[in-house]
Amino acid sequence: MDSYVRKIREESPTFKSHIYLNHASTGPLHGRTAEALKEFSVHWGETDFEEVDVACKNVKSQFAQLINATADEVVFTPDVTHGTKLAVSMQEYDEKSNIVCYWNDYPGQVYQALFLKEKKNVEYRPVPDKKNKILVESFAERIDENTKIVLLSHVQWISGYKSDVKEIAKITHENGAYILVDSIQSTGALVNDVKDWDIDFLTCGVAKWLLGPNRKGLFYIKKKLIDEFYPPFAGYHGTDVGSFEEPYWNVNKLEFLPSADKFMDTNPGNLLYYVANAGMKILLDYGVDKIEKRIMDLTGYLFEKLDELKNIELITSRKEENRSGIVNARISNNVEIVKKLKKENIIVSSRYGGIRISPHFYNSMEDIDKLIEVVKKYNS
Ligand SMILES: Cc1ncc(COP(=O)(O)O)c(C=O)c1O
Repeated sequence: MDSYVRKIREESPTFKSHIYLNHASTGPLHGRTAEALKEFSVHWGETDFEEVDVACKNVKSQFAQLINATADEVVFTPDVTHGTKLAVSMQEYDEKSNIVCYWNDYPGQVYQALFLKEKKNVEYRPVPDKKNKILVESFAERIDENTKIVLLSHVQWISGYKSDVKEIAKITHENGAYILVDSIQSTGALVNDVKDWDIDFLTCGVAKWLLGPNRKGLFYIKKKLIDEFYPPFAGYHGTDVGSFEEPYWNVNKLEFLPSADKFMDTNPGNLLYYVANAGMKILLDYGVDKIEKRIMDLTGYLFEKLDELKNIELITSRKEENRSGIVNARISNNVEIVKKLKKENIIVSSRYGGIRISPHFYNSMEDIDKLIEVVKKYNS
């Protein structure tokens, strides 16, 4: 454990009393995010929001850095699903149109496809998996010239399966469609590169791996698409306010901003983004390459330890290119074991018959040893 990792653990109020291995649910409180919360109340008390405004702008720049975009391609959203709704609502559908989505992706994605089917008679083409593996070929078989949009999480929330979004984006574009990637189970934990992947839209949230509070969203739109798409709602935050000292909207004319802010249709609020700014800085100060490497080492060690247990079946892929920060081990009494672990201040989740374990870069092998010790005790 290097000095940075040790310091981050020492500063965290959560880590003082807990072994926290639940980043796929929500991030823990860190010293630096706790400090940001306090600072916010000071700014509020002094009715001085200048620094808050700077920090909120910085959230977009930091997020852009984490996904290899530019800040003007990023806009605030109320939550992750809002970004999916935005991308889906901006498409024009006709009687031949179809939408392609992994059948068991996060409900916030799948429900958009079901909604379009109900409301606009758009054909929904669910992509199957092969024992939790999501194959590129399965997407290729379903995407065609009538596909309008493909929806996919980079990392699956149940199994932790990491998809080859670059290859799926290539097939999507060859067929003239758009692709939206939900990256909330990936950004902050794994190297993300929207330019290399060549995706059109990405939706994410500041909680979980980005260490921000629950729950606010961020949406990326590829620069060249900003002009091409018209927002589905006329949010006044997507237009030019003139100056903050003396706000002035031209209400004789609706003119959207030339950046991704054009799609900002609700008031983003500033408290949660102020705190999220401190969370993202923890990650960028360490470096995402190093974070990914540590997470892979920790989950690799976790695989070894789980292999020593009886009555456990991993639903997580061990293939290097499909691994992430999420490991899900199926076990008969999973809900009970998660409760027992909680009593011992070891935090994980139960998901679909399994224990979902999701360590971040500052977790340690000893954290995993302690988890395994308790699981062993209750594994019947
Ligand atoms: C893959 C995925 N997408 C989205 C969300 C959250 O969506 P929202 O912010 O809309 O509640 C989660 C978990 O909460 C998730 O695991």
